[in-house]
Parts: sequence; structure tokens; C-alpha cells
Amino acid sequence: MGWDVLGIVRGYSGLLGDDEVVRLTKDSVRGIAHMGGTILRTTNRGSPFEYPVRQPDGRFIYIDRSDDLLQSARDLGIDAIIAIGGDGSLKIAQRLQDKGLNMVGVPKTIDNDVSGTVTTFGFDTAVQTALEAIDKLHTTAESHDRVMVLEVMGRDAGFIALHAGLAGTADVILIPEIPFDMEKVCGKVVARDRAGRRFSIVVVAEGAMPRGGEVSVIGESMPGQAKRVGGISELVAQEIRERTGKETRFMILGHLQRGGQPTGYDRLLSARFGGAAVRAIADGRFGHMVALRSPHIVTIPIEDALREPRRVDPDHDVVRTARATGISFGD
Ligand code: F6P
Repeated sequence: MGWDVLGIVRGYSGLLGDDEVVRLTKDSVRGIAHMGGTILRTTNRGSPFEYPVRQPDGRFIYIDRSDDLLQSARDLGIDAIIAIGGDGSLKIAQRLQDKGLNMVGVPKTIDNDVSGTVTTFGFDTAVQTALEAIDKLHTTAESHDRVMVLEVMGRDAGFIALHAGLAGTADVILIPEIPFDMEKVCGKVVARDRAGRRFSIVVVAEGAMPRGGEVSVIGESMPGQAKRVGGISELVAQEIRERTGKETRFMILGHLQRGGQPTGYDRLLSARFGGAAVRAIADGRFGHMVALRSPHIVTIPIEDALREPRRVDPDHDVVRTARATGISFGD
């Protein structure tokens, strides 16, 4: 295109003087397709609209720095910004668009919780990692007659648990969209035991919760960060042990899901999203997000993608097929 391309380091911090803006050339982006993560680094702390600023006494206050950001973009001669991220990043992109910056969104999150696109990039890689973990947990589960409870990420969405759980033929899948009942979960474990299948694999999404219960939260978040979800696997394992007498172990897969080599699918999808984002800028389609509408990449208004967060539809064919193969959702 003959355009100058700048990389804004660490989210919007690069435009707010807390980090830098670097020139991206063919050389600086060479040889990174097989790598996970981002050469531009990132942050999930603080939107420019509620930017955390540390006070001398250590406390944080939150101030709106969006005008500083706009000024900095103008000073750098920026004509358009491509914002890559999940719903939080896209919400910020929409607000900046409303303030007059030309924004194009690219949906990237392992949680797959952005509406309007068949999938986000990063999701497939996370599912693959979760699937490998399930396959490996089968070994000890089978040899030791144990119930293995694997906790996967996804925040308020159960896509990673659902997809890895079905692909890995888990026995129980617990997701936020289908609150569970421990009696039902244990019923499945006991029924398998009676049928001579003395082990079970339970895949639980970090945001899953018992009916009438609450999401399990671990530790404190940093200022400007969303709550840290997690720990439900330990509670589920403990309950199964107490109610069935079976030996149980839990494992929190954690950040392994956010790292390593991206799958071929994710590499292809991100390359296609990147190309489409550039074409969107060339066509002046600002305030839009690139999206996969198989077999095509399209653009949709970011507003449409944000209207409601994407969640697992309990009637979706993946759930129905999982149920048909005997997988319990604990409901
Ligand atoms: O939103 C992506 C995600 O990986 C969630 O699945 C997970 O809950 C969260 O981010 C983890 O965030 P952090 O790295 O800040 O603990």
C-alpha cells in the first residue's frame, strides 16, 4: 500500500507516554508467524478512559486520558488504528471511534466470546492445548481409577471447555452457560464406575458455577484489571471425592493455554484478518471489525459485535452432540 506502519507498544500505553511507538517494517515482522503472543507486548490493565495512575501513597486513581491519546495520534500523523483484542479492547476501539479516531477491529481472544464472527484467533490454539492436556490426563485417570478434573480458561464463556471436552471425549463438561448440580455430576461418575469404567474426566470452564452459586474468583486483580476467575476445579474435585469416595485430582491448566506455537488454523485466520483489516482501512470502512463468516471474511460494525457478548448456546449442535455421546453437563 505504500503506507507507513507503526506499532503501538503495550496496548494504548504507547500512545499515552507510558510506552513507545515503533516503526514496523518488513524486517521487524519477519519470521514471527510461528510464534505465539505479540512482538508489541500487551496489557489488560486500564482503558484510556479509566486509566490507572499511581499516587505517591501507592493508591491508584482512574482518569480519562482519551483526549491525550487523540492528541498523541494526531501528533504522530496516524490516519487509522487497528485494534486487536477481545470485547474489552473492542469497546475501547468503539469509544475512540466515537471520539473521531479511525478504528478497525480484529477479534483476538482465546475465549471466543466476540459476537458476529464464527471464531476469534487464539481460540483454536487454546483448544488444542486443552485437548492435549485431556489426552495426557487420561493416562493417570485410567491407570489409577481416578477422577481427573481439568480447569480451562474462557472467563464467562465455555467454548474452550466445550470444544476441548467433546474432542477429548470428556465424561463431564461444566460451563458457565449451563449451571451444574453436583448430584448430577457425581451421578455420572458413579454410573460409569458401576459400568466398569472406573475413571472419569471432568473438564470445567473457570467461569462455571453450581446452580444458584457464584463464579469462583482467585486472588486480587491489579488496578484496572477485570476480576481473576478460577479455582472451581478444586471445589468440584473435593465435592466428588466427598460424595463418591473416589480418588480425585484437579489441575488448573492456566496460562499454558495462552502460549506456544499457534495452530495452522489460527495462523491462517490471523493472516486473513490482517489482510482484511488493511483492505477495510483502504476502503474507509472505519468503526468496523473484521469477522469470519465462513467461507468469507467480512467486516461488521464494531457496535454490532459488542451488542451482546457471545456465549455457548445450550441448544447448539456441539452441546447436543456432546449430550448424545453421553457427556454430562451436570444439569
Ligand atoms: O480473556 C482471556 C483470558 O485468558 C481468560 O480466559 C482468563 O480468565 C484471563 O484472560 C486470564 O487473565 P490473566 O492473564 O490476567 O490472569
